[in-house]
Amino acid sequence: MPKERLHAVLGPHGQEHLLAFWDRLDTEQRRSLAEQIDRIDFELIRRLHADRDRPSDVHELIARAEPPPAIRLDSVTTAEQSKARRRGAMEIRAGRIGAILVAGGQGTRLEFGKPKGMFPIGPLSGKTLFQIHVEKIVAAARRYGARIPLYLMTSPATHRQTVEFFAAHERFGLPAEDLLIFCQGTMPAVDAETGRVLLEEHGRIAASPDGHGGMSAALLHGGALDDIQRRGIQHLFYFQVDNPLVDICGLEMIGHHLLADSELTTQVIAKRDPLERVGNVVQVDGRLYVIEYSDLPEEAANRRNPDGSLTIWAGSIAVHVISAGLLRRSAESADALPFHVARKAVAHLDHSGRRVEPSEPNAVKFERFIFDLMPQARNAIVMEVDRRLAFAPLKNASGAEQDTPEIVRDQLMALHRDWLRWAGAEVSDEVEVEISPLYALDAEELAEKLPPGTRITEPTYFRP
Ligand code: UD1
Repeated sequence: MPKERLHAVLGPHGQEHLLAFWDRLDTEQRRSLAEQIDRIDFELIRRLHADRDRPSDVHELIARAEPPPAIRLDSVTTAEQSKARRRGAMEIRAGRIGAILVAGGQGTRLEFGKPKGMFPIGPLSGKTLFQIHVEKIVAAARRYGARIPLYLMTSPATHRQTVEFFAAHERFGLPAEDLLIFCQGTMPAVDAETGRVLLEEHGRIAASPDGHGGMSAALLHGGALDDIQRRGIQHLFYFQVDNPLVDICGLEMIGHHLLADSELTTQVIAKRDPLERVGNVVQVDGRLYVIEYSDLPEEAANRRNPDGSLTIWAGSIAVHVISAGLLRRSAESADALPFHVARKAVAHLDHSGRRVEPSEPNAVKFERFIFDLMPQARNAIVMEVDRRLAFAPLKNASGAEQDTPEIVRDQLMALHRDWLRWAGAEVSDEVEVEISPLYALDAEELAEKLPPGTRITEPTYFRP
């Protein structure tokens, strides 16, 4: 696009400064900058910036938040669990379930420098998060004699490395036709005061992934929704890259989802303390919402029910089953998911081209969250899980208080020791163990394989 045309596009939005260094760019850089400009909806950016300080609805939601109706661990009966498991297994066998893994985040807190999925987390195997997730899918597909395609979302920050990593490892056993890697979009960072889009380099706009809610649009544009439809997949098991404990395509969850004729089922844990840093699932006017921990004031977090339990008790672990129909509806409507505003310190070039590294937030970023589908979902339901069995997110680098590699590995080993004991083995708490998903996906499968009288006294990695 010639410079004059770009001026004509940018002028009405007051964004012509994006061309300030045009004359210093080579042909390739110009082409790239023109492309970046072309992808931005400047009218949307103007509206979002104008609304940046508008009080959000979240305060009203918090004031009226009630505990969500939930399938609680202490009330669900064995018969209900078995029924749900049978229903879930039926659906997987019929090939109507797929998996979605979101891995487009930049993982800044982990200080890893590569896509988080490439982090070696297996306590003995050194397997990466990606490998552990994929092997669970491979093992489940084998067990149920079904195809379980994986739709893996990356972002421009993680795409190339992720694609190369999967290719180099032959997709960890997943058939090529059952893996679709698609890239989410980005949103530019804008100056908080002026609303001007920031430049990171002469020819590069400061942009970041548009949040996991960007998934709906990316599924559509990346061709995944058509693939889902073509295969007759009805429901998608959604999970985040950071939690190696997630029971991918867990039968009980899928079963409850189907039995309730739900469009969105979400897993929660009972929060350890009122201010635990997880999203909070609440109910308002019969609809489910997630309130982020950063939006929850202490007073509301401490609210109690008459029996003394926390009102806002349900911590989201960001594991959902979502119907393909709901995903398509949200993908086809530009406004299905709202944008959330975050104030951030964003490095950029000033008008003279000097790099500015602010220490205080100078910019606003815009992100969409997939959990905003909840209030739109028909019969959305909540299922409680035991955090020891289902949630060990890798968020922080070693040395932090929570969610570090060491803590995640310990939790993985503790879970596998529990399985071993359940399966009849003897193992003490000091012994390091790890079980490959390809060896056993759960304690029951382990019990079928473990010789009677097994005693484990040294570090042991169980694999096929
Ligand atoms: C998230 C949830 C929180 C939940 C917690 C559980 C949000 C806003 N909050 O917190 O409610 O309790 O997980 O662990 O989601 N991602 C993308 N693209 C993006 C941004 C993120 O694919 O643009 C992916 C990441 O790769 C990751 C997941 O989304 O797999 C979560 O992102 P992260 O920023 O780590 O969320 P948290 O703030 O930790």
